[in-house]
Amino acid sequence: MAERDFNDITADILAHPLFQELHSYPHHGPQNSVYDHSLSAARCAYRMARRFHMRPERVEAVTRAALLHDFFGYSWQSEQHRRYMRRYSGWQRVKHMHAFIHGAHAANRADRVFGLDQRQKDAITSHMFPLAPFPKNSEAWVVTLADKVVATREMTHGMFQQLEALRSRRVA
Ligand SMILES: [Fe+2]
Ligand SMILES: [Fe+2]
Repeated sequence: MAERDFNDITADILAHPLFQELHSYPHHGPQNSVYDHSLSAARCAYRMARRFHMRPERVEAVTRAALLHDFFGYSWQSEQHRRYMRRYSGWQRVKHMHAFIHGAHAANRADRVFGLDQRQKDAITSHMFPLAPFPKNSEAWVVTLADKVVATREMTHGMFQQLEALRSRRVA
């Protein structure tokens, strides 16, 4: 199988209206959307998969899985989501927390819209490990690692932006 580049592998997903909606969901900090985060995670997963000498078809599969790993389709920071969570209390509330369930939601939704193989579904479902099931295969490890690398970078950047805003407010 001939190797395809990152743009070729991801173009149909990036152009899809449901994926474009991810621009409107804030994620890690004021400047970061689920779209930005997903694209960065996919780029990171693509580089890792090439570095680990995965077969071209698995590089494609893991890149697409990483791009879709947060394709859950709602804003977890919205008032609507907070209202939804208020319906639950105690252990039920923990079970329904976004951090625990969004991998499974994203896997099901991504499969419905774009079609996934079982290894991609497992990778997306377990990307929140250790808050989600143990990663079952190499694709799942690449997606969970790429997500953590990118999320750490984005959250650190967001914290520095907030500190900078606080400092400039104090000086003014
Ligand atoms: Fe996630
Ligand atoms: Fe993520």
